Amino acid sequence: MTVLGIETSCDETAAALVRRHPDGRGEILSNVVRSQLDLHAVYGGVVPEIAARAHVELLDAAILQALAEAGLGFDEIDAVAATAGPGLVGGLIVGVTMGKAVALGLGVPFIAVNHLEAHALTAGLTDGLGFPYLLLLVSGGHTQTVIVKDVGAYERLGTTLDDALGEAFDKAAKLLGLAYPGGPEIERQAARGRATVKLPRPMLGREEPHFSLAGLKTALRHEALARAPLGEQDIADLAASFQEAVADIVSDRTGRALEFYTERLGAGAQRALVVAGGVAANQRIKAALETVVAKHGFRLVVPPPVLCTDNAAMIAWAGAMRLARGLTDDLAAPARARWPLDPAAPPALGAGVKA
Ligand code: KG4
Ligand code: ZN
Repeated sequence: MTVLGIETSCDETAAALVRRHPDGRGEILSNVVRSQLDLHAVYGGVVPEIAARAHVELLDAAILQALAEAGLGFDEIDAVAATAGPGLVGGLIVGVTMGKAVALGLGVPFIAVNHLEAHALTAGLTDGLGFPYLLLLVSGGHTQTVIVKDVGAYERLGTTLDDALGEAFDKAAKLLGLAYPGGPEIERQAARGRATVKLPRPMLGREEPHFSLAGLKTALRHEALARAPLGEQDIADLAASFQEAVADIVSDRTGRALEFYTERLGAGAQRALVVAGGVAANQRIKAALETVVAKHGFRLVVPPPVLCTDNAAMIAWAGAMRLARGLTDDLAAPARARWPLDPAAPPALGAGVKA
């Protein structure tokens, strides 16, 4: 089965072709990602209207390039999968409409893919990992720990009460006068800084494995204001202190989720932690995760960066997994700005807009 995947939920316009072999193995035939980073960088964040317009302009060419790189024609596509949510609705509508049109034109099934499910299933494509496992998703838009039991069977353990982890990095960078996206900038500055500034670690030791980043961000602002005007060493020290606080938060909250996982599934369940999202690129956070998984007897699975951040190969793969189970959608499938992986998860106390 060869599936065309389309991803337009945020600021990456992506198209990919993935084949699922009869033995269940996945193969990426092409994986085209056109980043819109330059268009949004001047605004210090993603502008939804600009993103939607750019998807319209870039998507046709991305699909054609994906076909060309795979050496395939349209007639060799067995199904089309497009991200239908969650994300920025303008971009989602562009991708979903394109996906439906291609599927209708070819007379093949259409699959509306949940972007979070695609992140969750990527480890099956990259590492052939079977179920179950724990997913830690840490991106610009999402911060969640989820038990992945099977395709379509997810139990959300922790979520963020306020900012996503990547968002916190971006906001911290902005207030230190660093460029967008802020995560890599903070990491670079931190490398030459000393983590000497005392910053809070919200939620540490709490029973529920939720995250909260807003208080840390506010504390950083106070410390930055107290030192203004900031010299180069101040910026590096504040960045290092912030990164250290985040690493502590991630290892404590993930450790708690690992305990929950074992409580839920029993000690005999596969012990693997899969990390996805742009923040997984951070070496300090990765080191913190390595320590915490070792402590709990888990193994860490981190797909390569191009498949950890937003891409269409993961959408095609999720589509292929659903197709193999007969889970296809009709052309009425909507684009959904919100689409929680686990609709039954109780809302985190104080949780605002984040699913
Ligand atoms: O998964 P991703 O590429 O896109 C989505 O948000 O969907 O994640 C981007 C986020 C940004 O907030 C960026 O600042 C953060 O990941 N990020 C990092 C690093 N590289 C990217 N955060 C911390 N350290 C990094 N090295
Ligand atoms: Zn994503």
